[in-house]
Amino acid sequence: MDIYAIARPEIVAMKPYQSARKTSSADGILLNANEAPTSFVDGPDLERLALNRYPPPQPANLRTQLATLYDVPESSLLLTRGSDEGIDLLTRVFCRPGEDAIVECSPCFGMYRIAATIQAARVIDVPRQPQNGLRIDFDALEKTIRDEASVRLVFLTSPNNPTGDLIERDQLERILQVCDGKALVVLDEAYIEFCSSKSASDLIDRWPHLVVLRTLSKAWAAAGVRCGTVIANPAVIDLLLRVIAPYPMAATAIDAAMQATSGAAVDRKAQFIKDVVRDREDLIIFLKNCPWVIEIWQSRANFVLIRVPDADGLVTWCDTSGLKIRNFSSQAGLAGCVRLTIGSDKEMAKLKAALEAFGEQQ
Ligand SMILES: Cc1ncc(COP(=O)(O)O)c(C=O)c1O
Repeated sequence: MDIYAIARPEIVAMKPYQSARKTSSADGILLNANEAPTSFVDGPDLERLALNRYPPPQPANLRTQLATLYDVPESSLLLTRGSDEGIDLLTRVFCRPGEDAIVECSPCFGMYRIAATIQAARVIDVPRQPQNGLRIDFDALEKTIRDEASVRLVFLTSPNNPTGDLIERDQLERILQVCDGKALVVLDEAYIEFCSSKSASDLIDRWPHLVVLRTLSKAWAAAGVRCGTVIANPAVIDLLLRVIAPYPMAATAIDAAMQATSGAAVDRKAQFIKDVVRDREDLIIFLKNCPWVIEIWQSRANFVLIRVPDADGLVTWCDTSGLKIRNFSSQAGLAGCVRLTIGSDKEMAKLKAALEAFGEQQ
């Protein structure tokens, strides 16, 4: 499939900006980027980062590290400021304002719709099935993609936020088949580490229009770093590179991302995932014993979605105990629903105590 044929023609035609760091190495005497010769900051840690210099646009050390971590070739990887930026770039490159469309299956992560709206792209929603635990309606999804000529991006999320369910490989491949020649399938795997399924990124070789999004914000416990990775066919990466800011990642973020994904952090991440999975299952058992909870989704991520008779009341109740939980009850298909993130043992004990007390006054 020709990826360039479905991208915005003006992005295909444009000559990308050539920054100083992109066009020449950072060796020698650097008088080519209007930088200061030395930094003013004190402290060995920040001095080491040479903050007077622009950072590398796509830092080689971090690329190598993340390519190993995600088991993909470096040529199919783009580092971004979180997956949020990956979503934004994809929408800007592939959707012509006022003409093209994205497809989502709500309820899902809210940024797909926001990115499309900012780009003046149409959002075609194929709502999940309320009568079937909010699972994706793959027949309806397939029909929509076939019927709508303007679709350029199909956003799928596995595990999904906020329902926490997975997309099976055969379901993904069914959609890849339908999208062949007309649209990219963007599979957002922000929470994949919390489930036993492996990433679908190995399918990119076979399906060049598959894009996988990974992030350090969840299982790597590094949301503050703002580091996401777009994994895609090199043609997709080439197009995204034309649009991304010249120096997207701060030197401090590059350094933090290196540290967050190496050394003892790797073992801590493995333990964290085990803890989250255990605490998630434990919370689900607890919730099953709360007679006032109407519905509990079997999540594969680091959160649990529940439906209760009075979502606003529960959110306010938790708030007065100092606990913030996410109210989804105003969203289509999610009346009465709140999402509970798995926190530390102490935080989970507090949450359970608050839920118990809420149940007693029902
Ligand atoms: C499904 C999904 N994708 C992407 C993101 C954003 O990730 P990042 O922090 O890498 O921008 C989130 C954040 O909650 C999410 O739930």
